[in-house]
Amino acid sequence: LPTQKVAVIGSGSWGTALARIAALNAAEKKGFDHEVRMWVREREIPGQGLLTEVINSTHENHRYLPDVSLPHNLVAVPELKDVVKDATLIVLVVPHQFLTPVLEELSKPGVLAPNARAISAIKGVEVVGAEIYTFPWLIEKKLGIPCSALGGANIAMEVAQSEFCETTIGVPSPDDAALWHAVFDSPMFRVHPIEDVAGVSLSGALKNVVALAAGFVDGMGYGGNTKAAILRIGLLEMAAFTKEFFPSSSSLTFSHHSAGVADLITTSFGGRNRKCAEAFIKTGKTFAQLEHELLNGQKLQGVVTAEETFRFLQARGREEGYPLFT
Ligand code: NAD
Ligand code: 13P
Repeated sequence: LPTQKVAVIGSGSWGTALARIAALNAAEKKGFDHEVRMWVREREIPGQGLLTEVINSTHENHRYLPDVSLPHNLVAVPELKDVVKDATLIVLVVPHQFLTPVLEELSKPGVLAPNARAISAIKGVEVVGAEIYTFPWLIEKKLGIPCSALGGANIAMEVAQSEFCETTIGVPSPDDAALWHAVFDSPMFRVHPIEDVAGVSLSGALKNVVALAAGFVDGMGYGGNTKAAILRIGLLEMAAFTKEFFPSSSSLTFSHHSAGVADLITTSFGGRNRKCAEAFIKTGKTFAQLEHELLNGQKLQGVVTAEETFRFLQARGREEGYPLFT
């Protein structure tokens, strides 16, 4: 079998946490090139030098994943084309609002290896008028390579601290399922492949909208009963929305898998969307202000996704089918 080479596009908190797991596995498992490259947007850190050099010398991403040691075979690289050079397995994990320029760069002739395949760990959707697209679909179209989806109850810092959790990979091909399983599976990060790419991707996007509602409940001072009601209604809307607009998806993704109900629960209790939504109610500040003040450079996905989902439902005249999202 050819040697597989993993590249990670994105170095925020989840990008770095996933890159850490992939690098630990690449160092240990047969069939992988030991070096895993991670794309880092270069900038100068005052008094310390270039960010990539700081990450590569300290083996830590101080801003997005502080106090977590990164394996030495994980290398921060500033140029996208150098990150993906000869890579066969490409993990896309940038906040969804920043993906377009990345895909522009990767789609230039000669940048990607012809046998490359991708996986999207991005939680978001793309809405254009009355059309909605998942990121794996867009990535496949734009890059001309197969793209799977990874999603689950995976708060980045908990994963990076090796607390036990599960994740779901949506991947139709059994061969690709085996490859991605080998890249990420470990005793504390259990990977379950299923065939439903759209379900995994949509669930990851839509649970962020429900998590905002959960944060509003917390901000208003209501208790567990109210929050549980919101989660139940939210889960039903997530599954119904996905089935209505992506009919080949499976409702089991929502009820049985980490990408569904489990991700909804963890995000609605411990995620950034919940945290900022609670503060939104308590302080009356805007989400942009709260993202800036509370997240230290990390990005909210739920607010953008709520707007996109609402615009899409309006364009389709389907608001009454989804009262919580609306
Ligand atoms: P993050 O929220 O930590 O955001 C920081 C990243 O955004 C950095 O890499 C930064 O360089 C980049 N960034 C900021 N401004 C940018 C710009 N103008 N252009 C390009 N990049 C810019 O990122 P993350 O947590 O790694 O999230 C990536 C995706 O993974 C999101 O879709 C998120 O929903 C998903 N996800 C996150 C978690 C988590 O716990 N953090 C868990 C599962 C999935
Ligand atoms: P937040 O972006 O709300 O922190 O959610 C993280 C997540 O997707 C956990 O699986």
